Amino acid sequence: MDLIHRPRRLRRTPALRRMVRETRVTPDQLVYPLFAVPGRGVKRPVGSMPGVFQLSVDGIVAECKEVHGLGVPAVILFGIPEHKDAEGTGAYADDGIIQQAVRAVKEAVPDLVVVTDVCLCEYTDHGHCGVIQGNEVANDPTVALLVREAVSHARAGADVVAPSDMMDGRVGAIRAGLDAEGFSHTPILSYAAKFASAFYGPFREAAESAPQFGDRRGYQMDPPNAREAVREVLLDLDEGADMVMVKPALPYLDVVRAVREAVDVPVAAYNVSGEYAMVKAAAANGWIDGDAAMLESLTAIRRAGADLVVTYFAKDAARLLG
Ligand code: PBG
Repeated sequence: MDLIHRPRRLRRTPALRRMVRETRVTPDQLVYPLFAVPGRGVKRPVGSMPGVFQLSVDGIVAECKEVHGLGVPAVILFGIPEHKDAEGTGAYADDGIIQQAVRAVKEAVPDLVVVTDVCLCEYTDHGHCGVIQGNEVANDPTVALLVREAVSHARAGADVVAPSDMMDGRVGAIRAGLDAEGFSHTPILSYAAKFASAFYGPFREAAESAPQFGDRRGYQMDPPNAREAVREVLLDLDEGADMVMVKPALPYLDVVRAVREAVDVPVAAYNVSGEYAMVKAAAANGWIDGDAAMLESLTAIRRAGADLVVTYFAKDAARLLG
């Protein structure tokens, strides 16, 4: 056959494929989530997320050393407090679980970037991401508490604060609060386009943060809306966000792409708990090759335009890529 165009010519060998590869995944682009709980020597497996544990601060520090050793530059910390209450006071207590964890990690592994998730859902007894008034999460009173939380994370040594609550105006308020307390150098990674997703199920087991009534659709985004996601991103940048996140990742790659094209700041995507659990479950059944599916997923998220990928696969991926 007389063919001028034969794209297969550049696919023939691994070296040729490597040479023309458009997208690369390296450990540098990954952020590893960790769940801190009170106590010592605690390592409690999360049933729906094989390989993920709730860890006491000593275990968090050990994990962080390992993560750093694998070449992953950053972790994002979530905390599960001793006591939950209506206002989530554990979230902004100076000796709260996250504050303890941040101090310990920064002392043991100073070069590791410590991002903290700023939200109330792990700390409230009703499991919502803010304070309840009537039957709703009240926006402005919640923002005031989020500011206290972000400042207390920065004071403990957090390198980056990442609000994930989806209240309106919280980025601007957190920026002002940080600046007023001497943390004008602390960047904000905003979960700007966070959708009300079924893929957070396993996380809510890990973080013990399932809402006790209703759902999060009154504050998290409606999954069908991509234009609105770009608007949320632009609003957060206007309020002073330094980086923006799209969440979840795989079912929202079109949103990652749209955001990538709309802005110049670093874009992160959160390869969430349900995305991780699906791969792990299918691999455990022998239905897919888990490592291959993992790397393909991370590559796809990067190809869509994410600079950073928050993923429970960070350690596994770094081992394979390193
Ligand atoms: C809220 C928060 C959630 C996740 C990260 N931050 C859960 C939620 O909104 O219910 C989900 C992450 C995941 O599923 O891996 N603080």
